[in-house]
Amino acid sequence: MSLEPKSAEDSRAEMTVRMFPSDANPAGNVFGGEILKQIDLIAGLVAQRHCRKNAVTASIDRVNFLKPVLVGNALIMNARINYVSRSSMEIEVRVEAENLMNGTRILTNTAFVTSVALDDFGKPASVPSLLLVTEDDKKRFAEGEQRMLQRKRERRTN
Ligand SMILES: CC(C)(COP(=O)(O)OP(=O)(O)OC[C@H]1O[C@@H](n2cnc3c(N)ncnc32)[C@H](O)[C@@H]1OP(=O)(O)O)[C@@H](O)C(=O)NCCC(=O)NCCS
Repeated sequence: MSLEPKSAEDSRAEMTVRMFPSDANPAGNVFGGEILKQIDLIAGLVAQRHCRKNAVTASIDRVNFLKPVLVGNALIMNARINYVSRSSMEIEVRVEAENLMNGTRILTNTAFVTSVALDDFGKPASVPSLLLVTEDDKKRFAEGEQRMLQRKRERRTN
């Protein structure tokens, strides 16, 4: 598969799903695990768009649940790649809940997901480098690199 550099724009994704009673507790609050699943799904999609290989989730950094998501809300996820190393890719996911009755949207979660590309033998495989087109791309890449170094430090001490 080609290792031609790609921009973040090439793989970014937006996904909207409606929350049903089966996604929530009896009070109508959507389970954190359901939101994590959606975060994982969209991050995997962005990763695979970037590398065009199988990609697995290696870690999800601390996820804060800022506001409740309620049954009937639309969950809107935006995901983009911030940083790539040899086989790993950092994807940032931003989650909003939309009240479909009045159109208001609130930020409910943000998360950084690390996906690792795998070759046909299940071993980590090289991914295309990231074309940094805008100043924002460059800032995100530099910040992603710092977070990746921090993750490596934490793994060494675990
Ligand atoms: C992720 C996984 C492939 C890494 O394999 P490994 O043998 O530890 O590979 P390496 O140590 O060579 O690391 C490969 C890359 O993953 C990164 N990585 C490994 N563990 C990581 C973690 N916990 N968090 C973030 N990045 C991680 C490394 O930094 C390295 O990045 P680089 O190639 O860009 O420098 C392996 O741990 C795995 O298969 N985990 C299970 C994944 C899974 O089942 N996910 C849920 C279903 S999608």
